[in-house]
Parts: sequence; structure tokens; C-alpha cells
Amino acid sequence: MVVAVKKSQKRLTIQALEIAPDTQAIRSLDWDRDRFDIEFALENGTTYNSYLIRGEKTALVDTSHGKFHDLYLEKLQDIIDPKEIDYLIVSHTEPDHSGLVKDVIELAPNVTVFASKMAIMFLENQVHRPFKRQIVKQGHELDLGKGHLIQFVSAPNLHWPDTIFSYDSGTHTLFSCDAFGMHYCSDNVFDENLSLIDGEYKVYYDCLMAPNARSVRAALKRMDNLGHISTIANGHGPVLRCNLKELVGRYRKWSNNTETRAEKVVAVFYASNYGHADRLTHAILKGLGKTEIAVEALDLKNADPQEVHKLVSSASGIIIGMPPAQDVVSMAAISTILGAAKPKQYFGLFESGGENEDTIDTLFAQFKNLGLTKAFFPLRIEDTPGEATYQLYEEAGTDMGQLLNRDRNIKEIKAINPKLEKALGRISSGLYIITATKGEVKSGMLASWVAKASRTPLGITVAVAKDRAIESLMQVGDTFVLNVLEEDNYQPLMKHFLKRFPPGADRFAEIKTQTASNGSPILTDSLAYIECQVKSRMECHDHWVVYATVETGRVSKPNALTAVHHRKVGNHY
Ligand code: FEO
Repeated sequence: MVVAVKKSQKRLTIQALEIAPDTQAIRSLDWDRDRFDIEFALENGTTYNSYLIRGEKTALVDTSHGKFHDLYLEKLQDIIDPKEIDYLIVSHTEPDHSGLVKDVIELAPNVTVFASKMAIMFLENQVHRPFKRQIVKQGHELDLGKGHLIQFVSAPNLHWPDTIFSYDSGTHTLFSCDAFGMHYCSDNVFDENLSLIDGEYKVYYDCLMAPNARSVRAALKRMDNLGHISTIANGHGPVLRCNLKELVGRYRKWSNNTETRAEKVVAVFYASNYGHADRLTHAILKGLGKTEIAVEALDLKNADPQEVHKLVSSASGIIIGMPPAQDVVSMAAISTILGAAKPKQYFGLFESGGENEDTIDTLFAQFKNLGLTKAFFPLRIEDTPGEATYQLYEEAGTDMGQLLNRDRNIKEIKAINPKLEKALGRISSGLYIITATKGEVKSGMLASWVAKASRTPLGITVAVAKDRAIESLMQVGDTFVLNVLEEDNYQPLMKHFLKRFPPGADRFAEIKTQTASNGSPILTDSLAYIECQVKSRMECHDHWVVYATVETGRVSKPNALTAVHHRKVGNHY
């Protein structure tokens, strides 16, 4: 049965149904959610999946987002008296799954919470009342009776450091929370139609899992030791059953690809659940992820010194999100990092919360004294970070990745056959500046890989390198302006936008602009502008080909011509 409710014109519904013997899914369907953290725009909403397993004892796996408070708790009470729930398994503590843990504990005061040590610690801050708890580790078991033996799997960093999976050997069902999920909202409970979910499954992997590819591989290895898995009961999107082998195989392939393509690793250390550390770290990871560099993220509070030493020794770049100065465990981990750091490595530091400014400056000086090279100046935050701060952190991550990839990229360009490169240079193209605004964030980029693409509706394509800052502002649904440069008057704008801007820099500080009706800057010195909206994106290895429909446009000088750039070779200006 589906219960529909309108809330601020956003559609929220809930469904409960059996997915395996004695196992019900309670799926909260968030049809219109259009953004998830800062990471990505959602085209198809999302779901938050919770599960009830009834053996002789009863366990609830995860809850739901706080926005489903009434719907979820009513549905739960429809199907069970909450006092009959013996165990609450918390796979991790991000609020989209644990937002109603407190409410469930109020309805079921005798329930015992099963979670990782770190999750229990976080829950203490969320629940604000005593609750029964059992810390679980890799390999621990919980026997619910009637054949439902639950085995716990430690899966740190997928995608939070406190994550566990739970496997019911009675039904061969793996409860995986974020892993193997996707932001795709549909009444269909299972993954019958692969072509519908293909794209969302990949985007989700790229945004949330790819930065922790090593952790993905470790979790896959642990899953291999569990025995047969017939169902993956994930935390978002349709439950995997019909295409399970294919979809798990993709995680195997994608996580291994990262290892072979990326020669260098960036180690990102952060203090989870402190200040704004989690979202800021995501922003850095997202920026790094655009550059195809391998990334290992480790929580300072939970890092084993040997693991830290090993990771730092093998990393080409080190990024640290500052913990509070009084957090002795995290500060000890930073001493280990300093002990293992070597000249030739790049480093970057960022503030996470209200730590003392001196701490970050002292650490910056220590790294410099050790001979490491800064990839970016320490990133600082004032008050609550806004979109511009997240963009700044993202761009800093991208900068670090680009610095580390520089030699590889030069090598790859040099490896292109010179005759072919010259031939490619003869493909003619105009010169354009793409400008985009999203919320508080503005960006601009010189583009020449632009082409008309459709007549009805009118549409164009633009190829954008994955590591360009503006790429984040050109997701499906976003708008931008295509500024056409003028023959004999393009040099100043071309030079300006070819410059390397430091993270967060205002690209328009010295440029004359007006504002288009879609909010993006129109360059006053351009010959023409066209307002565009992104409809789809095609992944082409190191670029996205962005297809956009065009809405309005104007030419400022009717008789002037478009700047055409004649290149000697295909790869640079
Ligand atoms: Fe779906 Fe990490 O929460």
C-alpha cells in the first residue's frame, strides 16, 4: 500500500513489502529531492530504505530521514508493535538513515542498538538519552532464530567511516546501506530494468564510492567470504536482485580501474563529525575525484598508527582537515603523519570547525620545514560554510589532483602521433566563454569544442574536461551562458580565461559583465550570447559532452564575425 502526502509541494510516499522470507522493506520515497549534500544534483529523487527481519527475535535495519517522521513511524507501527523490536542495527549514522533512531528508541525503549564503535559514539550525540548498545566488529554474529543468522561486515568509508554491512545467511541478503545504492525513486522495489538505473548507479559510485576505491575493494573481498548473496538490500534506490551479479561486477571493475589508471595516491585525513568536517571533506574528495587521482580517506579519530604511516609513506599528496586542538587522538595521528611525510610530497590543510587558527599555521610551517610543497594555501572557514566555501574546497582538491597529474598528462600528450595531432588541429572551431552561476557560485571557462546539435528543440553541445571547476555548475537542469567571442577582439578575454585561477578566485573581478535572465554573467565584450539549459551529459573519458537546449540569445554587433582559432596542433591553444 502506498500512502501519499503533499508537503511543501514535495511528494513523499512510503511503501512496505516483503523482499525475502520474514524480511520486509520499508522504503521512504522522496520523489522530488533534487540535491544530495553538495555532491550531486538528483534527477530522479531518492529513497531511504529500512528493513525489518523477523526471526524468533526481531531486528530493524536502519530507519529513515527525519522528513519522513510521521509517514515512517505510522507505517512501522502498522506492521509491528515497536516494543516487539529487539534489535536496531544502525549501518551508519548519516541522518538520511539514522534520522529517526531517536524516535524508534522512544517507541521501543528496550531495543538494543547494534553498530560500530564509532557509530555508537555518534549516536550518543544524536539520541541524547541512554540506550542499550552492542558494539559490533568484523565477523561478529547475531542469531535472530528461524535460520536468520546475521553476520556483520566492517565496511569503513563506504561512505562514512562508521559503516557496517549485515548479512543474513538465512535469506542470503546483504544489508549494505549506502554501498550498491543509487538515487533513483520509483515504486519498483527491485532492479528489473537495468537501462533505467544504469546512469544513476554510475554517478552515485563516482561521487560517493570512487574516492574510497580501496575500501570498496576491501569490502568486496569480505563479501566474497560470506557465501552466496542473492539480494542486496541497499539504503537508496531499488533493491538489487535481478541484475545483482552485473551491478556488483561493476563495483569490482570500477574500483580496480582506479588502481590501474591512477599512479599516484592522495591521502586525505579528516576529523569526522566535527564542525563541518564531513561536508567539507566531501567537497575536497569531489574535487580530487574530478582528476582521476586515487584517493584514500582516513578518519583521524579512528586511524591505526601503522595504517597512517603506511598510507603517508606511499602517498604523493597529503591533505589534512584540522581536528580540534584538544582532540589528543587526532593530534597524535597528525604527529604520525608528520613523522612519515617526505620532501617531494604535496600537502594541503583545511579548517573543519572552530579550531584555533594558530594550529593550522603551525602545521603549515612544519610541513614546509620538512620540505613538502604546498598544493594550496590553508583553507579557512568563517561561520557556517556556504556554497562558495564548498566550491573553494572542491577547487582546492582539483588543484592538488591536477598538480600530481601534470607529468602524466604531458607524457600522454607527447605520446600522440605528431602527424595526427597536426591533423586534429585542422578541425576548425570558434572561440567561446562559458559562464555559469549556481546559487552563490560563479565560474567561467574558455571553450572551443562547441557545436550545434539539434534543431527541434534548438540545442548545442559543449565538451568540458572533467577537472574543470565549471563542470559542477553544468549538471542536468543547470543553466549557463555561451558567450561568443569576436574576431579581432578576442585576445584579452581568451588570455584572461586561460589563466590558472587559485581555488575560489572570482573569475569576473576585472571583467565587464551583465546578468542574463538565467542569472549567469554575459560578458559585455563578447559578440553574442546564448542562454542554455543542460539536458543531458555523455561521459567521454576525460571530458563530459554536455547537451543543452538554447533559450534566448542576442548579437551585439550584427556585422562582426565570430573569432575562429586556427591551431597548429589539436591539443592546446
Ligand atoms: Fe545515505 Fe551516507 O547516507
